[in-house]
This record gives sequence, C-alpha cells and structure tokens, in this order.
Amino acid sequence: MDLIHRPRRLRTTAGIRNLVRETKLNKEDFIYPLFVIGGEGIKEEIPSMPGNYHCSLDQLMIEVEEIVKLGIGGILLFGIPDHKDEIGSSAWSEDGIVQQACRKIKEEYPELLLITDVCLCQYTSHGHCGTLEDGCLLNDPTLENLAKVALSHAKAGADMVAPSDMMDGRVIAIREKLDQACYDDVAIMSYSAKYASAFYGPFRDAAHSAPKQGDRKSYQMDPANSDEALREMKLDLDESADIIMVKPALAYLDIIRRAKDNFITPIAAYNVSGEYAMIKAAAEKDWVNEKAIVLEMLTSIKRAGAEIIITYWAKDAAKWINDY
Ligand code: PBG
Repeated sequence: MDLIHRPRRLRTTAGIRNLVRETKLNKEDFIYPLFVIGGEGIKEEIPSMPGNYHCSLDQLMIEVEEIVKLGIGGILLFGIPDHKDEIGSSAWSEDGIVQQACRKIKEEYPELLLITDVCLCQYTSHGHCGTLEDGCLLNDPTLENLAKVALSHAKAGADMVAPSDMMDGRVIAIREKLDQACYDDVAIMSYSAKYASAFYGPFRDAAHSAPKQGDRKSYQMDPANSDEALREMKLDLDESADIIMVKPALAYLDIIRRAKDNFITPIAAYNVSGEYAMIKAAAEKDWVNEKAIVLEMLTSIKRAGAEIIITYWAKDAAKWINDY
C-alpha cells in the first residue's frame, strides 16, 4: 500500500489526541441555573430533574458556595414566587425572592457572575410570559413590565439580565430602562432564538410556569424555522443585546452554527431541562454512560459555536472535564 495520508496517525495516543483536539471545554464556559423559593431550610429535589432543587435562600447560599469553589462561569437565577397575579407584578417587587437572593449573593460573593432570568410566566396566574387579554398575549404593554423586572434585578445586584419572554422589542425596552437609571454597565443576554419546544417540559414543572391554557406558539419560535432565528438575533443585536442565545441546544446545533457564522458576538446555548431529563432517565437505567454522553454533548454544543453553555450539568461537568 502506498498510503501517505493516514489520519489515524493523529489518533494514536491520548497525548496526540489532546494536542490536536479542536474544541476543549472549560469550567468557565458553564452557567448553572438555580431555583430560589421563599421560606427557610427548604431543599426539595425537582422530580423530573434529579440533582436540581428548589432552595430557600439559606440553602441556596450553600449551593452558591460550592459553585464558587468549583470555579464555574456563573449562575442563572430563577424565582419561584409565593404570589401570582394577572400581570405578574411580584416579578418586580423589591422584596421578591430573586431580588433578595441577588442582594445576598452579591454581598457574600461579589466576584461571582450573577445572571437573572427576566420573564413573567412564573409570576402570572395564567402562566403566560406577559399580559393577557381575551386569550391574546399583548406585546407592548408587557414590555414596560419586563423592563421593570430587569431594573429591579439590576438594583439588587445582577450583573446581567436574560430576557426569556420572546416579546418583540424587549431588549431595547430593557436597555433604555436600565440606562435611564444609570445601570448602563448591566449586560443583556437575550434568549434571541427561543423555540416553542417540547424540551421545556421538566422546567415548567420545576418553575410552576406551564400556561394554564393554550401554548406559547404565538411568541416562541416555530422549530421548523432557521432564517427567522437569524432575523431575531439581528434585531436583538440592533437593540443592543450583548450576548445572543439559542434555546434549546441539542436539537438546534445548526442554529448555533449559523449564529456563529453570521455574527461577531458571544453566543450562548441553553442545554434545557428536557435534554437533561432524557439523559438522566436513560443513565438511571444504565442504558447510557452519563459522564461520557454529557461531555460529548457539551463539546458538540461548543463545537457548533456556543462559547457559553447554560447547563444543569455545570457542577458535574466542571469536575468531569479534568479527566476527559
Ligand atoms: C421562562 C423560561 C423557560 C425556560 C427558561 N426560561 C420556560 C418556557 O419558556 O416555557 C426553560 C428552561 C429549561 O427548559 O431548562 N420563560
């Protein structure tokens, strides 16, 4: 055989494979989502998301300490409020659970990157992401409320806000509100291409945020569309988004890659609850090797073009990558 090209040469040993590996995960790439609830001494496992919890603030601080020690990139905070109403007004209450948590986290860990999810669905009695009228989600009246939520988070110490509602014009509405109040250094990570996905099922159980009626198809994107995702991302960037996000991740790697090829901006991907639950369930049955499959998946998300990965495996992955 006169084969001179032998790609296998670069796969011979672990040393060579490490040398030529194109995509390497770092613990700083990961953002860990956390769910905070009122009360004290509460740490309740979310049944469909084993290893993730509803934590009262005292318990949350124990989680946060671990995250800081592990050196993970940051946290994304979600609140489980004790009070819901038609417009979701407890979302911007100064004494809301997220606002309390932000103050406490910043007091104890000022260096930790603190991101808050900005949405209304956990806070509205109907479970939709804004103000509802005759079954229709009103875009423009919702914007002012989202901006108030973002400002209340910034005042409480959030470094970055992440609007996940998919209303048109929310990024600029939030930016103007923050700037008027002199929070021009608070960044916006926009859930720009957020699809109306069945992969959010476990999260909605976790956050008690499933819509009571109807679905989110009039505001979240149709999974069949790709060009539309670019349009959403461009609009968000024009409105001053600092980071754009694709969500979910695994079934949307092509969208992540298009984002990477088209925009010079940091790109985040949300490795969502359904992606987590599927693998956890299969791993419990010993049908897959959790560690190997998760590291392969996270590497794929990064290879597709996301330098920031929001994942419920952040803590495990931070430990595992040392010996991948
Ligand atoms: C709130 C929100 C959702 C998620 C993040 N923010 C749920 C939804 O839009 O229904 C999903 C996160 C996950 O599934 O892990 N709008």
